[in-house]
Amino acid sequence: METRNIVLITGVSRKEGLGYETARQLAEQGYKVIITARDYQKATQLAAIMQGDQLDIVPMELDINNADSIAKCVQQVTAQFGHLDVLINNAGAMTDLTSTIATADLGVVKSCFDSNVFGPWQTTQAFLPLLRKSAQPRIVNVTSGMGSYDDPDFGLNHFPGVLSTYALAKLTFNALTVKVAKELKDKKILVNAVCPGFTATYEGLKEQGARPVEESAKSIVWAATLPANGPTGGFFRDGKPLPW
Ligand SMILES: NC(=O)c1ccc[n+]([C@@H]2O[C@H](COP(=O)([O-])OP(=O)(O)OC[C@H]3O[C@@H](n4cnc5c(N)ncnc54)[C@H](OP(=O)(O)O)[C@@H]3O)[C@@H](O)[C@H]2O)c1
Repeated sequence: METRNIVLITGVSRKEGLGYETARQLAEQGYKVIITARDYQKATQLAAIMQGDQLDIVPMELDINNADSIAKCVQQVTAQFGHLDVLINNAGAMTDLTSTIATADLGVVKSCFDSNVFGPWQTTQAFLPLLRKSAQPRIVNVTSGMGSYDDPDFGLNHFPGVLSTYALAKLTFNALTVKVAKELKDKKILVNAVCPGFTATYEGLKEQGARPVEESAKSIVWAATLPANGPTGGFFRDGKPLPW
């Protein structure tokens, strides 16, 4: 069986995305990284780029909103590696950039909660047996300052109007992190939420002040590589606690 530390990252379908850069940084530190996407071809193409740089990357298919897809991925990881050291719940979606509480289509709200809450929730449930077989298991939930009350730029008390649906979903994901961390504390599984910060993963965001993906991914890597006495149930950016 594989002796290297094994990480699985959800939502790695774009070279510009946080998932890809997180995979690269962890693989450069010597981790074996399973990158997953709901479109297997995309994961395979991205894996090939990093494998070309001699990084230990394995592509797999995983749709976090499809129980069969999750079960199939768990089976694959079980068969190939027998355990999992780090689960990074990175997949998520802004299903509607413009909706306000007054105007939101509740069908769209539900799909936003599917991507940002129920998807990572069922993914976590499914991978827990494999994480329990790790000597130092970690779960990293990629949330957002939008899902806090007090982030000075994007928090619920400060950011006006739009993106309310996404903010409420990420707020719930932050809360889910706290509850899961408490439940798993005795099992030595460290579970933390990370806001990567406003990041230039799409065209035009850099011009709006977003920071480079290389810088933001370090926050996720930090939580994925915490020592045994590291925090659990916290919310962090750049390795520092955030208010929420
Ligand atoms: N960029 C920022 O400023 C920022 C700030 C705070 C937090 N975040 C969070 O960081 C994470 C990564 O975002 P990003 O900026 O790097 O954008 P991104 O590349 O679009 O990442 C989101 C990923 O989630 C995947 N996804 C959505 N639904 C899925 C499903 N049902 N199953 C599997 N994968 C699914 C997408 O895959 P498809 O290509 O298949 O849709 C995509 O690969 C997200 O959780 C986001 O909310 C980003």
